[in-house]
Amino acid sequence: MAEQFDVVVSGAGPGGYVAAIRAAQLGFSTACIDDWTSAEGKAAPGGTCTNVGCIPSKALLQSSENFEHAGHAFAEHGIELKDLAIDVKRMLARKDKVVRQNNEGIAYLFKKNKIRFFHGVGRFTGGAAGAWQIEVSGEGAAALSAKNVIIATGSKPRALPAAPFDNKLVLDNEGALAIPAVPKRLGVVGAGVIGLEMGSVWRRLGSQVTILEVLPVFLGAADEQVAAEARKQFTKQGLKIELGVNITRVETGKEVTVEYVDAEGKQESARFDKLIVSIGRVPHTAGLGAEAVGLELDERGFVAVDADCRTNLPGMWAIGDVVRGPMLAHKAEDEGVAVAERIAGQHGHVDFNTVPWVIYTSPEIAWVGQTEAQLKASGVAFRAGSFPFSANGRARALGDVRGFVKILADARTDRILGMHAIGPMVSELIAEGAVAMEFGAGSEDIARICHAHPSLSEAVKEAALAVDKRTLNI
Ligand code: FAD
Ligand code: NAI
Repeated sequence: MAEQFDVVVSGAGPGGYVAAIRAAQLGFSTACIDDWTSAEGKAAPGGTCTNVGCIPSKALLQSSENFEHAGHAFAEHGIELKDLAIDVKRMLARKDKVVRQNNEGIAYLFKKNKIRFFHGVGRFTGGAAGAWQIEVSGEGAAALSAKNVIIATGSKPRALPAAPFDNKLVLDNEGALAIPAVPKRLGVVGAGVIGLEMGSVWRRLGSQVTILEVLPVFLGAADEQVAAEARKQFTKQGLKIELGVNITRVETGKEVTVEYVDAEGKQESARFDKLIVSIGRVPHTAGLGAEAVGLELDERGFVAVDADCRTNLPGMWAIGDVVRGPMLAHKAEDEGVAVAERIAGQHGHVDFNTVPWVIYTSPEIAWVGQTEAQLKASGVAFRAGSFPFSANGRARALGDVRGFVKILADARTDRILGMHAIGPMVSELIAEGAVAMEFGAGSEDIARICHAHPSLSEAVKEAALAVDKRTLNI
Protein backbone atom coordinates (compact mmCIF):
# COMPACT_ATOMS: atom_id res chain seq x y z
CA MET A 1 0.00 0.00 0.00
CA ALA A 2 1.40 3.40 -0.99
CA GLU A 3 1.84 5.99 1.76
CA GLN A 4 -0.55 8.89 1.14
CA PHE A 5 0.46 12.55 1.28
CA ASP A 6 -1.25 15.83 0.47
CA VAL A 7 1.98 17.13 -1.07
CA VAL A 8 5.03 15.24 -2.32
CA VAL A 9 8.02 17.34 -3.36
CA SER A 10 10.59 15.78 -5.66
CA GLY A 11 13.99 17.36 -5.00
CA ALA A 12 15.32 19.01 -1.83
CA GLY A 13 17.24 21.91 -3.38
CA PRO A 14 16.30 25.47 -2.35
CA GLY A 15 13.12 25.19 -4.43
CA GLY A 16 12.01 21.82 -3.09
CA TYR A 17 12.90 22.02 0.59
CA VAL A 18 11.39 25.49 0.95
CA ALA A 19 8.22 24.39 -0.89
CA ALA A 20 7.96 21.43 1.51
CA ILE A 21 8.34 23.69 4.55
CA ARG A 22 5.68 26.11 3.31
CA ALA A 23 3.32 23.20 2.47
CA ALA A 24 3.79 21.77 5.97
CA GLN A 25 3.23 25.20 7.52
CA LEU A 26 -0.07 25.37 5.65
CA GLY A 27 -1.17 22.12 7.30
CA PHE A 28 -0.53 19.64 4.47
CA SER A 29 0.92 16.18 5.16
CA THR A 30 4.15 16.58 3.22
CA ALA A 31 6.98 14.39 1.94
CA CYS A 32 10.19 15.39 0.21
CA ILE A 33 12.35 13.04 -1.88
CA ASP A 34 15.97 13.75 -2.73
CA ASP A 35 18.76 11.58 -4.08
CA TRP A 36 21.86 13.67 -3.28
CA THR A 37 24.46 11.62 -1.39
CA SER A 38 27.53 13.07 0.34
CA ALA A 39 31.07 11.74 -0.11
CA GLU A 40 30.49 9.89 3.19
CA GLY A 41 27.47 8.12 1.65
CA LYS A 42 24.87 10.07 3.64
CA ALA A 43 21.77 11.90 2.47
CA ALA A 44 22.73 15.50 1.69
CA PRO A 45 19.56 17.58 1.26
CA GLY A 46 20.00 21.05 -0.23
CA GLY A 47 20.50 20.20 -3.91
CA THR A 48 22.97 21.89 -6.21
CA CYS A 49 22.83 25.13 -4.22
CA THR A 50 23.95 23.62 -0.93
CA ASN A 51 26.23 20.85 -2.18
CA VAL A 52 27.98 22.15 -5.29
CA GLY A 53 26.65 25.64 -5.92
CA CYS A 54 25.83 28.79 -3.97
CA ILE A 55 27.11 27.74 -0.56
CA PRO A 56 30.47 26.07 -1.32
CA SER A 57 31.31 28.70 -3.96
CA LYS A 58 30.75 31.48 -1.44
CA ALA A 59 32.85 29.62 1.14
CA LEU A 60 35.77 29.44 -1.32
CA LEU A 61 35.24 33.03 -2.46
CA GLN A 62 35.56 34.11 1.19
CA SER A 63 38.67 32.00 1.85
CA SER A 64 40.40 33.18 -1.30
CA GLU A 65 39.46 36.81 -0.64
CA ASN A 66 40.89 36.54 2.88
CA PHE A 67 44.11 35.22 1.34
CA GLU A 68 44.24 38.03 -1.20
CA HIS A 69 43.56 40.66 1.48
CA ALA A 70 46.20 39.23 3.74
CA GLY A 71 48.71 39.35 0.88
CA HIS A 72 47.80 42.69 -0.65
CA ALA A 73 45.59 44.84 1.53
CA PHE A 74 46.77 44.27 5.12
CA ALA A 75 50.10 46.09 4.79
CA GLU A 76 48.28 49.39 4.18
CA HIS A 77 46.63 48.92 7.60
CA GLY A 78 50.02 48.43 9.21
CA ILE A 79 49.53 44.70 9.54
CA GLU A 80 52.67 42.83 8.57
CA LEU A 81 52.49 39.15 7.72
CA LYS A 82 55.44 36.94 6.99
CA ASP A 83 55.47 33.61 5.13
CA LEU A 84 51.87 33.85 3.97
CA ALA A 85 50.74 30.49 2.57
CA ILE A 86 47.53 28.82 1.49
CA ASP A 87 46.67 25.32 2.64
CA VAL A 88 44.20 24.25 -0.07
CA LYS A 89 43.33 21.04 1.74
CA ARG A 90 42.22 22.97 4.83
CA MET A 91 40.37 25.52 2.74
CA LEU A 92 38.42 22.71 1.01
CA ALA A 93 37.77 20.99 4.34
CA ARG A 94 36.29 24.22 5.71
CA LYS A 95 34.09 24.51 2.61
CA ASP A 96 32.92 20.90 3.12
CA LYS A 97 32.11 21.67 6.75
CA VAL A 98 30.04 24.70 5.75
CA VAL A 99 28.15 22.48 3.27
CA ARG A 100 27.59 19.79 5.92
CA GLN A 101 26.20 22.35 8.38
CA ASN A 102 23.71 23.43 5.74
CA ASN A 103 22.74 19.80 4.95
CA GLU A 104 22.17 19.22 8.65
CA GLY A 105 20.21 22.45 8.95
CA ILE A 106 17.80 21.30 6.24
CA ALA A 107 17.42 17.83 7.84
CA TYR A 108 16.57 19.63 11.10
CA LEU A 109 14.00 21.82 9.32
CA PHE A 110 12.33 18.70 7.87
CA LYS A 111 12.00 17.24 11.38
CA LYS A 112 10.84 20.53 12.90
CA ASN A 113 8.11 20.86 10.28
CA LYS A 114 7.16 17.15 10.39
CA ILE A 115 8.08 16.59 6.76
CA ARG A 116 8.82 12.98 5.82
CA PHE A 117 12.15 12.84 4.01
CA PHE A 118 12.91 9.99 1.61
CA HIS A 119 16.51 9.60 0.46
CA GLY A 120 16.48 8.16 -3.05
CA VAL A 121 15.33 8.72 -6.60
CA GLY A 122 11.65 9.52 -7.02
CA ARG A 123 10.01 8.23 -10.20
CA PHE A 124 6.42 8.58 -11.36
CA THR A 125 4.84 5.20 -11.98
CA GLY A 126 1.32 6.29 -12.85
CA GLY A 127 -1.82 7.45 -11.11
CA ALA A 128 -4.14 10.30 -11.95
CA ALA A 129 -5.41 13.59 -10.55
CA GLY A 130 -5.62 13.38 -6.75
CA ALA A 131 -3.49 10.23 -6.50
CA TRP A 132 -0.19 10.45 -8.36
CA GLN A 133 1.97 7.39 -7.75
CA ILE A 134 5.68 7.80 -7.03
CA GLU A 135 8.20 5.06 -6.39
CA VAL A 136 11.29 5.93 -4.38
CA SER A 137 14.32 3.75 -5.03
CA GLY A 138 17.47 3.76 -2.94
CA GLU A 139 18.05 4.03 0.81
CA GLY A 140 14.56 5.42 1.44
CA ALA A 141 12.75 2.98 -0.90
CA ALA A 142 8.98 3.46 -0.65
CA ALA A 143 5.79 3.78 -2.64
CA LEU A 144 4.02 7.13 -2.27
CA SER A 145 0.71 8.50 -3.40
CA ALA A 146 0.24 12.27 -3.65
CA LYS A 147 -2.74 14.58 -4.07
CA ASN A 148 -0.31 17.26 -5.22
CA VAL A 149 3.21 16.96 -6.56
CA ILE A 150 5.85 19.69 -6.76
CA ILE A 151 8.68 18.83 -9.14
CA ALA A 152 11.91 20.58 -8.08
CA THR A 153 14.55 18.36 -9.65
CA GLY A 154 16.87 21.22 -10.61
CA SER A 155 19.56 21.37 -13.26
CA LYS A 156 22.86 19.84 -14.35
CA PRO A 157 25.93 21.41 -15.94
CA ARG A 158 26.01 21.61 -19.74
CA ALA A 159 29.08 19.99 -21.28
CA LEU A 160 30.98 21.14 -24.34
CA PRO A 161 30.26 18.54 -27.03
CA ALA A 162 34.02 18.31 -27.67
CA ALA A 163 34.93 17.84 -24.01
CA PRO A 164 32.89 15.60 -21.71
CA PHE A 165 33.44 16.26 -17.99
CA ASP A 166 35.92 13.93 -16.29
CA ASN A 167 36.37 16.13 -13.19
CA LYS A 168 40.08 15.48 -13.37
CA LEU A 169 41.07 17.80 -16.21
CA VAL A 170 37.74 18.99 -17.59
CA LEU A 171 35.73 20.23 -14.64
CA ASP A 172 32.08 21.03 -14.05
CA ASN A 173 30.99 23.13 -11.06
CA GLU A 174 31.53 20.19 -8.70
CA GLY A 175 35.10 19.71 -9.93
CA ALA A 176 35.79 23.44 -9.93
CA LEU A 177 34.91 23.56 -6.22
CA ALA A 178 37.27 20.72 -5.33
CA ILE A 179 40.57 21.28 -7.19
CA PRO A 180 43.06 19.69 -4.78
CA ALA A 181 46.02 22.01 -5.52
CA VAL A 182 46.22 25.45 -7.14
CA PRO A 183 46.59 24.83 -10.90
CA LYS A 184 49.29 26.92 -12.54
CA ARG A 185 47.30 27.53 -15.72
CA LEU A 186 43.51 27.44 -15.41
CA GLY A 187 41.25 27.69 -18.44
CA VAL A 188 37.59 28.62 -18.06
CA VAL A 189 35.06 28.25 -20.86
CA GLY A 190 32.20 30.74 -20.43
CA ALA A 191 32.45 34.22 -18.88
CA GLY A 192 29.12 33.82 -17.08
CA VAL A 193 28.44 33.76 -13.37
CA ILE A 194 30.26 30.51 -12.54
CA GLY A 195 33.21 31.33 -14.78
CA LEU A 196 33.76 34.71 -13.12
CA GLU A 197 33.23 33.47 -9.56
CA MET A 198 35.35 30.31 -9.85
CA GLY A 199 37.93 32.05 -12.03
CA SER A 200 38.26 34.67 -9.26
CA VAL A 201 38.72 32.03 -6.55
CA TRP A 202 41.61 30.28 -8.27
CA ARG A 203 43.23 33.49 -9.57
CA ARG A 204 43.37 34.85 -6.02
CA LEU A 205 45.13 31.67 -4.95
CA GLY A 206 47.75 32.02 -7.69
CA SER A 207 46.44 30.48 -10.94
CA GLN A 208 46.92 32.24 -14.28
CA VAL A 209 43.31 32.29 -15.41
CA THR A 210 42.12 32.60 -19.01
CA ILE A 211 38.39 32.86 -19.67
CA LEU A 212 37.16 32.00 -23.17
CA GLU A 213 33.72 33.39 -24.01
CA VAL A 214 31.78 32.76 -27.20
CA LEU A 215 29.84 36.04 -27.18
CA PRO A 216 31.46 39.25 -28.42
CA VAL A 217 30.12 41.24 -25.44
CA PHE A 218 31.08 40.88 -21.80
CA LEU A 219 28.28 40.25 -19.25
CA GLY A 220 25.57 41.10 -21.76
CA ALA A 221 22.78 40.69 -19.18
CA ALA A 222 24.21 43.38 -16.91
CA ASP A 223 23.97 47.15 -17.27
CA GLU A 224 26.58 48.25 -19.86
CA GLN A 225 28.36 50.64 -17.51
CA VAL A 226 28.53 47.98 -14.79
CA ALA A 227 29.84 45.41 -17.27
CA ALA A 228 32.51 47.85 -18.52
CA GLU A 229 33.66 48.62 -14.96
CA ALA A 230 33.69 44.89 -14.10
CA ARG A 231 35.80 44.07 -17.15
CA LYS A 232 38.25 46.84 -16.25
CA GLN A 233 38.57 45.61 -12.65
CA PHE A 234 38.88 41.92 -13.53
CA THR A 235 41.51 42.64 -16.19
CA LYS A 236 43.46 44.73 -13.66
CA GLN A 237 43.36 41.77 -11.28
CA GLY A 238 44.93 39.58 -13.95
CA LEU A 239 41.92 37.64 -15.25
CA LYS A 240 42.50 37.23 -18.98
CA ILE A 241 39.10 37.44 -20.70
CA GLU A 242 38.85 36.62 -24.40
CA LEU A 243 35.53 37.37 -26.09
CA GLY A 244 34.11 36.15 -29.40
CA VAL A 245 35.94 32.82 -29.13
CA ASN A 246 34.81 29.71 -31.00
CA ILE A 247 36.22 26.52 -29.50
CA THR A 248 36.94 23.95 -32.19
CA ARG A 249 38.75 21.16 -30.33
CA VAL A 250 39.61 20.11 -26.79
CA GLU A 251 42.22 17.46 -26.21
CA THR A 252 43.10 15.92 -22.87
CA GLY A 253 46.27 14.07 -21.95
CA LYS A 254 48.63 15.20 -19.20
CA GLU A 255 47.11 18.65 -19.67
CA VAL A 256 44.21 20.16 -21.61
CA THR A 257 44.73 21.73 -25.01
CA VAL A 258 41.99 23.99 -26.30
CA GLU A 259 41.96 25.00 -29.94
CA TYR A 260 39.81 27.94 -30.88
CA VAL A 261 39.19 30.64 -33.42
CA ASP A 262 39.57 34.06 -31.81
CA ALA A 263 37.48 37.18 -32.43
CA GLU A 264 39.74 38.17 -35.37
CA GLY A 265 39.25 34.76 -36.99
CA LYS A 266 42.75 33.58 -36.08
CA GLN A 267 43.22 29.90 -35.13
CA GLU A 268 44.67 29.74 -31.60
CA SER A 269 45.72 27.03 -29.20
CA ALA A 270 46.04 27.25 -25.41
CA ARG A 271 47.29 24.72 -22.87
CA PHE A 272 45.93 24.45 -19.33
CA ASP A 273 46.46 22.28 -16.26
CA LYS A 274 42.70 22.28 -15.63
CA LEU A 275 39.72 23.46 -17.65
CA ILE A 276 36.47 24.59 -16.03
CA VAL A 277 33.51 24.42 -18.41
CA SER A 278 30.74 26.76 -17.25
CA ILE A 279 28.55 27.37 -20.29
CA GLY A 280 25.16 27.21 -18.62
CA ARG A 281 23.01 24.46 -17.17
CA VAL A 282 20.32 22.13 -18.47
CA PRO A 283 17.13 20.97 -16.72
CA HIS A 284 17.39 17.71 -14.78
CA THR A 285 14.49 15.38 -15.56
CA ALA A 286 16.31 12.09 -16.08
CA GLY A 287 14.85 9.32 -13.93
CA LEU A 288 11.73 11.33 -13.08
CA GLY A 289 9.41 9.11 -15.13
CA ALA A 290 7.81 12.03 -16.98
CA GLU A 291 6.69 9.69 -19.76
CA ALA A 292 4.85 7.36 -17.35
CA VAL A 293 2.33 10.09 -16.52
CA GLY A 294 2.45 12.15 -19.73
CA LEU A 295 4.22 15.11 -18.15
CA GLU A 296 4.96 17.65 -20.85
CA LEU A 297 8.48 18.97 -21.37
CA ASP A 298 9.23 21.96 -23.59
CA GLU A 299 11.52 21.90 -26.63
CA ARG A 300 14.58 22.62 -24.43
CA GLY A 301 13.78 19.82 -21.97
CA PHE A 302 12.37 22.02 -19.17
CA VAL A 303 9.14 20.89 -17.51
CA ALA A 304 6.55 23.00 -19.33
CA VAL A 305 4.66 25.28 -16.91
CA ASP A 306 2.38 28.29 -17.05
CA ALA A 307 3.09 31.58 -15.25
CA ASP A 308 1.85 29.99 -12.00
CA CYS A 309 4.11 26.89 -12.27
CA ARG A 310 1.25 24.57 -13.25
CA THR A 311 2.26 21.66 -15.50
CA ASN A 312 -0.06 20.08 -18.07
CA LEU A 313 -1.27 17.61 -15.38
CA PRO A 314 -3.81 18.47 -12.64
CA GLY A 315 -2.26 18.78 -9.18
CA MET A 316 1.24 18.65 -10.61
CA TRP A 317 3.49 21.71 -10.35
CA ALA A 318 7.13 22.43 -11.16
CA ILE A 319 9.51 25.09 -9.85
CA GLY A 320 13.13 26.26 -9.84
CA ASP A 321 15.87 25.38 -12.32
CA VAL A 322 13.79 22.64 -13.97
CA VAL A 323 11.39 25.28 -15.34
CA ARG A 324 11.79 28.48 -17.41
CA GLY A 325 13.18 31.65 -15.86
CA PRO A 326 16.45 32.56 -14.16
CA MET A 327 18.40 29.70 -12.60
CA LEU A 328 18.71 31.27 -9.16
CA ALA A 329 18.19 29.77 -5.72
CA HIS A 330 15.98 32.62 -4.49
CA LYS A 331 13.79 32.37 -7.60
CA ALA A 332 13.37 28.63 -6.91
CA GLU A 333 12.53 29.32 -3.25
CA ASP A 334 9.96 31.98 -4.05
CA GLU A 335 8.29 29.74 -6.63
CA GLY A 336 8.18 26.96 -4.02
CA VAL A 337 6.42 29.19 -1.50
CA ALA A 338 4.02 30.53 -4.14
CA VAL A 339 3.07 27.02 -5.33
CA ALA A 340 2.45 25.71 -1.80
CA GLU A 341 0.21 28.73 -1.21
CA ARG A 342 -1.63 28.18 -4.51
CA ILE A 343 -2.27 24.54 -3.52
CA ALA A 344 -3.84 25.96 -0.34
CA GLY A 345 -6.08 28.21 -2.43
CA GLN A 346 -4.03 31.32 -1.70
CA HIS A 347 -2.50 33.70 -4.23
CA GLY A 348 1.27 33.29 -4.10
CA HIS A 349 3.10 35.43 -6.64
CA VAL A 350 6.63 35.78 -8.02
CA ASP A 351 7.56 38.89 -9.99
CA PHE A 352 10.57 38.09 -12.20
CA ASN A 353 11.18 41.82 -12.64
CA THR A 354 12.17 42.19 -8.99
CA VAL A 355 14.36 39.08 -8.73
CA PRO A 356 17.81 40.39 -7.82
CA TRP A 357 20.98 39.14 -9.53
CA VAL A 358 24.30 39.01 -7.73
CA ILE A 359 27.75 38.00 -8.92
CA TYR A 360 30.02 37.45 -5.92
CA THR A 361 33.25 38.58 -7.49
CA SER A 362 35.38 41.39 -6.08
CA PRO A 363 34.03 43.96 -6.62
CA GLU A 364 30.58 42.41 -6.31
CA ILE A 365 28.01 43.03 -9.03
CA ALA A 366 24.28 43.27 -8.34
CA TRP A 367 21.20 44.45 -10.10
CA VAL A 368 17.43 44.36 -10.00
CA GLY A 369 14.89 45.50 -12.59
CA GLN A 370 15.57 46.91 -16.03
CA THR A 371 18.86 48.03 -17.54
CA GLU A 372 19.25 51.30 -19.45
CA ALA A 373 19.46 49.30 -22.70
CA GLN A 374 16.20 47.47 -21.94
CA LEU A 375 14.40 50.70 -21.10
CA LYS A 376 15.68 52.37 -24.27
CA ALA A 377 14.63 49.37 -26.35
CA SER A 378 11.11 49.51 -24.93
CA GLY A 379 10.91 53.29 -25.40
CA VAL A 380 10.50 54.13 -21.71
CA ALA A 381 11.71 57.62 -20.80
CA PHE A 382 13.83 57.45 -17.65
CA ARG A 383 16.26 59.46 -15.51
CA ALA A 384 19.48 57.92 -14.24
CA GLY A 385 21.42 58.80 -11.10
CA SER A 386 24.82 57.37 -10.14
CA PHE A 387 27.06 57.70 -7.13
CA PRO A 388 30.63 56.38 -6.90
CA PHE A 389 31.93 54.56 -3.82
CA SER A 390 35.03 56.78 -4.06
CA ALA A 391 32.87 59.53 -2.48
CA ASN A 392 31.48 57.27 0.29
CA GLY A 393 33.16 57.55 3.69
CA ARG A 394 32.53 53.96 4.75
CA ALA A 395 33.98 52.64 1.48
CA ARG A 396 37.13 54.74 2.07
CA ALA A 397 37.43 53.39 5.61
CA LEU A 398 36.98 49.85 4.25
CA GLY A 399 39.68 50.52 1.68
CA ASP A 400 37.45 49.57 -1.23
CA VAL A 401 36.26 52.52 -3.31
CA ARG A 402 35.77 50.69 -6.59
CA GLY A 403 32.45 50.96 -8.42
CA PHE A 404 29.18 52.83 -8.08
CA VAL A 405 25.44 52.55 -7.53
CA LYS A 406 23.04 53.60 -10.28
CA ILE A 407 19.29 54.09 -10.01
CA LEU A 408 16.97 54.34 -12.99
CA ALA A 409 13.62 56.00 -12.47
CA ASP A 410 10.66 56.67 -14.74
CA ALA A 411 11.02 60.22 -16.13
CA ARG A 412 7.34 60.97 -15.64
CA THR A 413 6.36 59.19 -12.41
CA ASP A 414 9.81 58.84 -10.73
CA ARG A 415 8.98 55.18 -10.02
CA ILE A 416 12.20 53.15 -9.69
CA LEU A 417 12.65 50.84 -12.68
CA GLY A 418 16.10 49.42 -11.93
CA MET A 419 19.10 49.52 -9.63
CA HIS A 420 22.57 48.52 -10.82
CA ALA A 421 25.65 48.36 -8.69
CA ILE A 422 29.25 47.26 -8.65
CA GLY A 423 31.32 47.65 -5.53
CA PRO A 424 31.74 46.55 -1.91
CA MET A 425 28.88 44.50 -0.46
CA VAL A 426 26.45 45.44 -3.21
CA SER A 427 25.01 41.91 -2.75
CA GLU A 428 23.48 43.31 0.44
CA LEU A 429 22.67 46.81 -0.86
CA ILE A 430 20.59 45.46 -3.75
CA ALA A 431 17.84 44.42 -1.31
CA GLU A 432 16.96 48.10 -0.87
CA GLY A 433 16.35 48.40 -4.61
CA ALA A 434 14.17 45.28 -4.63
CA VAL A 435 12.13 46.50 -1.64
CA ALA A 436 11.71 49.93 -3.21
CA MET A 437 10.52 48.42 -6.50
CA GLU A 438 8.10 46.04 -4.75
CA PHE A 439 6.58 49.00 -2.89
CA GLY A 440 6.39 51.05 -6.10
CA ALA A 441 8.73 53.64 -4.58
CA GLY A 442 10.10 56.63 -6.44
CA SER A 443 13.74 57.72 -6.33
CA GLU A 444 12.59 60.60 -4.10
CA ASP A 445 11.36 58.09 -1.51
CA ILE A 446 14.84 56.58 -1.17
CA ALA A 447 16.39 60.04 -1.20
CA ARG A 448 14.20 61.08 1.74
CA ILE A 449 14.84 57.95 3.85
CA CYS A 450 17.39 58.38 6.65
CA HIS A 451 20.39 56.09 5.94
CA ALA A 452 22.95 55.36 8.67
CA HIS A 453 26.26 57.21 8.48
CA PRO A 454 28.84 56.08 7.67
CA SER A 455 27.46 53.19 5.65
CA LEU A 456 27.72 51.85 2.14
CA SER A 457 23.93 52.22 1.91
CA GLU A 458 24.43 55.99 1.73
CA ALA A 459 25.65 55.39 -1.84
CA VAL A 460 22.13 54.12 -2.65
CA LYS A 461 20.57 57.24 -1.15
CA GLU A 462 23.04 59.46 -3.03
CA ALA A 463 22.31 57.63 -6.32
CA ALA A 464 18.62 58.34 -5.68
CA LEU A 465 19.47 62.03 -5.05
CA ALA A 466 21.51 61.99 -8.27
CA VAL A 467 18.37 61.10 -10.24
CA ASP A 468 17.18 64.61 -9.32
CA LYS A 469 20.71 66.03 -9.83
CA ARG A 470 21.09 66.98 -6.17
CA THR A 471 23.74 64.74 -4.65
CA LEU A 472 25.11 66.06 -1.37
CA ASN A 473 28.52 64.44 -1.23
CA ILE A 474 29.89 64.86 -4.71
P1 FAD B 1 18.61 21.97 -7.27
O1 FAD B 1 19.29 22.80 -6.26
O2 FAD B 1 19.39 21.53 -8.44
O3 FAD B 1 18.05 20.70 -6.49
C1 FAD B 1 17.42 19.63 -7.12
C2 FAD B 1 17.58 18.40 -6.28
O4 FAD B 1 16.73 17.38 -6.78
C3 FAD B 1 18.99 17.82 -6.30
O5 FAD B 1 19.38 17.43 -5.01
C4 FAD B 1 18.84 16.61 -7.22
O6 FAD B 1 19.80 15.59 -6.99
C5 FAD B 1 17.45 16.17 -6.83
N1 FAD B 1 16.78 15.29 -7.80
C6 FAD B 1 16.76 15.40 -9.16
N2 FAD B 1 15.99 14.44 -9.70
C7 FAD B 1 15.53 13.70 -8.67
C8 FAD B 1 14.67 12.58 -8.58
N3 FAD B 1 14.11 12.03 -9.66
N4 FAD B 1 14.42 12.07 -7.36
C9 FAD B 1 14.95 12.63 -6.25
N5 FAD B 1 15.74 13.70 -6.27
C10 FAD B 1 16.02 14.23 -7.47
N6 FAD B 1 22.08 30.71 -7.30
C11 FAD B 1 21.95 31.81 -6.53
O7 FAD B 1 20.82 32.30 -6.40
N7 FAD B 1 23.00 32.36 -5.87
C12 FAD B 1 24.25 31.86 -5.98
O8 FAD B 1 25.18 32.37 -5.38
C13 FAD B 1 24.44 30.71 -6.80
N8 FAD B 1 25.66 30.16 -6.93
C14 FAD B 1 25.81 29.04 -7.72
C15 FAD B 1 27.08 28.52 -7.86
C16 FAD B 1 27.28 27.40 -8.65
C17 FAD B 1 28.68 26.83 -8.80
C18 FAD B 1 26.16 26.78 -9.27
C19 FAD B 1 26.34 25.52 -10.08
C20 FAD B 1 24.89 27.29 -9.12
C21 FAD B 1 24.71 28.44 -8.35
N9 FAD B 1 23.45 29.03 -8.21
C22 FAD B 1 23.31 30.15 -7.45
C23 FAD B 1 22.25 28.46 -8.85
C24 FAD B 1 21.47 27.62 -7.83
O9 FAD B 1 22.32 26.61 -7.32
C25 FAD B 1 20.25 26.99 -8.48
O10 FAD B 1 19.49 28.00 -9.11
C26 FAD B 1 19.39 26.29 -7.44
O11 FAD B 1 20.12 25.26 -6.82
C27 FAD B 1 18.13 25.70 -8.07
O12 FAD B 1 17.38 25.09 -7.08
P2 FAD B 1 16.38 23.88 -7.37
O13 FAD B 1 15.74 23.59 -6.07
O14 FAD B 1 15.54 24.21 -8.53
O15 FAD B 1 17.31 22.66 -7.86
P1 NAI C 1 25.82 31.46 -17.47
O1 NAI C 1 24.62 31.38 -18.32
O2 NAI C 1 25.89 32.47 -16.39
O3 NAI C 1 27.10 31.73 -18.39
C1 NAI C 1 27.48 30.87 -19.41
C2 NAI C 1 28.42 31.63 -20.34
O4 NAI C 1 29.00 30.70 -21.23
C3 NAI C 1 27.69 32.66 -21.19
O5 NAI C 1 28.39 33.88 -21.14
C4 NAI C 1 27.68 32.04 -22.56
O6 NAI C 1 27.68 32.98 -23.60
C5 NAI C 1 28.97 31.24 -22.53
N1 NAI C 1 29.03 30.13 -23.48
C6 NAI C 1 28.04 29.29 -23.87
N2 NAI C 1 28.50 28.39 -24.75
C7 NAI C 1 29.82 28.64 -24.91
C8 NAI C 1 30.84 28.02 -25.68
N3 NAI C 1 30.59 26.99 -26.45
N4 NAI C 1 32.09 28.55 -25.62
C9 NAI C 1 32.35 29.62 -24.83
N5 NAI C 1 31.41 30.24 -24.07
C10 NAI C 1 30.17 29.74 -24.10
O7 NAI C 1 26.04 29.98 -16.92
P2 NAI C 1 27.00 29.40 -15.80
O8 NAI C 1 28.07 30.35 -15.44
O9 NAI C 1 27.34 28.04 -16.26
O10 NAI C 1 26.03 29.29 -14.56
C11 NAI C 1 24.83 28.51 -14.65
C12 NAI C 1 23.73 29.13 -13.87
O11 NAI C 1 24.00 29.07 -12.48
C13 NAI C 1 23.54 30.60 -14.20
O12 NAI C 1 22.41 30.70 -15.04
C14 NAI C 1 23.29 31.28 -12.93
O13 NAI C 1 21.96 31.67 -12.85
C15 NAI C 1 23.56 30.25 -11.85
N6 NAI C 1 24.59 30.77 -10.98
C16 NAI C 1 24.29 31.85 -10.20
C17 NAI C 1 25.23 32.41 -9.38
C18 NAI C 1 24.89 33.59 -8.59
O14 NAI C 1 23.72 33.91 -8.49
N7 NAI C 1 25.85 34.29 -8.01
C19 NAI C 1 26.59 31.85 -9.28
C20 NAI C 1 26.82 30.75 -10.20
C21 NAI C 1 25.83 30.24 -10.98
